[in-house]
Parts: sequence; structure tokens; C-alpha cells
Amino acid sequence: MVILDGKKTSLDIKNEIAEEVKSILNKGQRAPHLAAVIVGKDGASLTYVGSKVKACERVGFDSTLIKLDESIGEDELLDKVNELNNDDKIDGYIVQLPLPKHIDSQKILLAVDPKKDVDGFHPTNFGRMALNLPTFISATPHGIMELLKRYNVSTEGKNTIVIGRSDIVGKPISILMGLKTNPGNSTVTMAHSRTKNIESLIVQADIIISALGVPNFIKSSMVKDGAIVIDVGITRVKDNSEKGYKIVGDVDFENVSKKSSYITPVPGGVGPMTIAMLLKNTLLAYQNLSLS
Ligand code: GUN
Repeated sequence: MVILDGKKTSLDIKNEIAEEVKSILNKGQRAPHLAAVIVGKDGASLTYVGSKVKACERVGFDSTLIKLDESIGEDELLDKVNELNNDDKIDGYIVQLPLPKHIDSQKILLAVDPKKDVDGFHPTNFGRMALNLPTFISATPHGIMELLKRYNVSTEGKNTIVIGRSDIVGKPISILMGLKTNPGNSTVTMAHSRTKNIESLIVQADIIISALGVPNFIKSSMVKDGAIVIDVGITRVKDNSEKGYKIVGDVDFENVSKKSSYITPVPGGVGPMTIAMLLKNTLLAYQNLSLS
């Protein structure tokens, strides 16, 4: 069994990006600049955005964190988005999800200039991803593909089951794993809340990608010997630690790891890769290479 170490791999990627930034600065050019918009005070979202901004500083990017009040109106947020679209000093930006209920997220994401959409959430970028054209691939699915690539995990001809059909993870990763690419070229089943006999599908899969958000949902009895297991779950579960919680994945790691050929841990698997790929997308935006 091989642990797909997202912490180490993301550090490798961040070091590569930092080298790139050094050579940009040595040429006398300005650093790439990522902005992040966060609305409200959700603890998990604030932590994620904080990590993204910190990661920017580590690789030498400029970063701007825009914190907006929970009560902001949709029009006001759209004005902010337009401001960022027109700011030449900002190469890419993200609007952290989820947004408060009174704001139509689709409307906001549609207003983001696809050239600055380093989250890859705009339909233009999502469509380009599905067609295997140069684009911003969303950070989490991109991180999974990069992890498989860097560990030379063979996916061709294998049966992949993706559990969860969110726009951010399940939907894009199910498309990417079926593309005529390496990694990719697998036969994909997308399972979701209405899927019947989900366990019988999981047990047949060579590759299991779980993005469900149910702690320890995948038990070793559901996993075939030698399966490749990618755990995208990050649920906060209360404990007695200083933080008051721990992060728990969808996979019962202790038991499933004994049967798997490759597995991602939680924490330290897909999570850190997500941030590294966001930085990579920002570098692409800076270099203006995403939509060429
Ligand atoms: N919320 C959870 N994951 C993400 C992400 O990758 N990007 C944004 N913008 N919001 C998120």
C-alpha cells in the first residue's frame, strides 16, 4: 500500500511555483496576485481562505483578502466582482463558497471574468475542461489528478466510482477521470444520494473517489482488494483538542488502507493539493495561459 502524500506533493509544487516567482521577480516584473472574497463569518470558510492567503505569501505571490459583511446585497457583491474583473493588478480571484442564502451563487460566479476565474467555476472554464482544452481546472479535482500523475498511478481502463455530484468536486472529477488523458481514460460511474445499491457499485470499483462528507462512510467491507482510494471528505468532528474539532474523511483509513493499493490520508491528502493547484492556476492567470 502506498500513501498518496498530498502534504509532501503540495510542498513540491509550491517550491516549483516559488522558483518560478523568483525568476519572474529577477526579470524585474511584478509578482502574481491572487484575491479572495469571503462573505460572512463561517469558521471553516475563514480557515480555508486564510490558508489560501498564507500559501500565496509563502510562494511570493501578492494577495488580497476581501472580507465582506454577511448582510451584503447581491448587487453590491456584483459590483465588487466587476471591480476585481477590471483591476489590472489582480491576476485571479476566488469568491469563497458557500455564499449566504440571499445571494444567488450562480449569478455571482457567472459574473467572474473567465480569464481571472482561478477556481474554474465559470461555465466557460468548466466547458473547456470537459472538452480537454487549456483552462483553469477547479483546484480540488485538479489536485486529485496531479496527485495520481505524480505517483504514476495507472488509471487507464479501470472502473472509477465517484461518490457525490457537487459542482466543485464530484461532477468535474467524474469528467476528468473519463477524458482521453493520463491520468484519466477510466470508466466512470457517478453515484449520488439517489443511487441504488451503492455498496455493490463501490465494491466493484478499481478506483474510489469519495466526496460525500460523511465521516468513515467507506468501510473495508465495501472495498475490493487493491483498490485505489481517494478521500475528499473533510468533516469537522468535535473533540477535546485545543481547536475543539478534528478533520475526518469519508474513508475508514485504518481498515481500508490494509486492502488498498494507493490511498490518500485525511488530513494530508487531497486538502493540501487543493491549495497548491489554486496557486498553480493563479500563475497560469498571470502568464495568461489558461484560455489560449
Ligand atoms: N468552498 C469549498 N471549496 C471551495 C473552493 O475550492 N473554492 C471556493 N471558492 N469555495 C470553496
